[in-house]
Amino acid sequence: MVNYLKIAPSTDPVEVGDELLFYVKKLNNIADFVHCDVMSSNFVGRDTITYKDVQDMYYKTLLPLDVHLMVNEPLNLVEKYIKAGAQIVTVHYEAFKNKNNLIKCLKKISKKGALAGIAMNPDTEVVEVMPYIAYADLVLVMSVYPGKSGQKFMESTYIKVKKLRQIREDYGARFKIEVDGGIIPEVSKRLKVAGADIVVSGSYIYNAENRERAIDELR
Ligand code: DX5
Ligand code: ZN
Repeated sequence: MVNYLKIAPSTDPVEVGDELLFYVKKLNNIADFVHCDVMSSNFVGRDTITYKDVQDMYYKTLLPLDVHLMVNEPLNLVEKYIKAGAQIVTVHYEAFKNKNNLIKCLKKISKKGALAGIAMNPDTEVVEVMPYIAYADLVLVMSVYPGKSGQKFMESTYIKVKKLRQIREDYGARFKIEVDGGIIPEVSKRLKVAGADIVVSGSYIYNAENRERAIDELR
């Protein structure tokens, strides 16, 4: 089976406002998703975009918006992002004190018509998220600590991707595997072999002289 890697450029390195909208518009024919990095100081010590920015982006692109919520206790927030146009809404395993709310949140995302993602930090093991995978359409493996782009990819990610791929096969599940942080072409090549479906890239694409070529290299 051909493993076609999808590319999701992230919004994090781009200045919010006109520059971001211009960037998103230019991605239309060359990327597969727009990865919207929503950060909150209650989770990563920094605030970035909100659902209003996501809505503005929605009107600039034909690509599906892949919203990554780095926010604590996002249960009452997800609907706003879906209304703003998100097609994927991913919440962090670590963001829920009571894991029943994680299940509630994933169910809510699906009920409101988006794909539900569960993100795991570098210190979280696959076995910890395992009980919740049944409620998710996607698992986002963080290959850096969430908070900023431009960090170094963590090698421990490959084994997690392989484990998830194995789980998917063993159970005949259909969730997608996405990886986020520090991804450059040499890494994406290895992630593809390990079984990833989607890779997020912030600085590598944004800083490239030729963004279309950078995306092709990652693919
Ligand atoms: C990290 C964000 C990532 C980040 C990726 O907190 O979730 O999406 O922007 O950027 P690079 O590819 O530069 O690590
Ligand atoms: Zn992200």
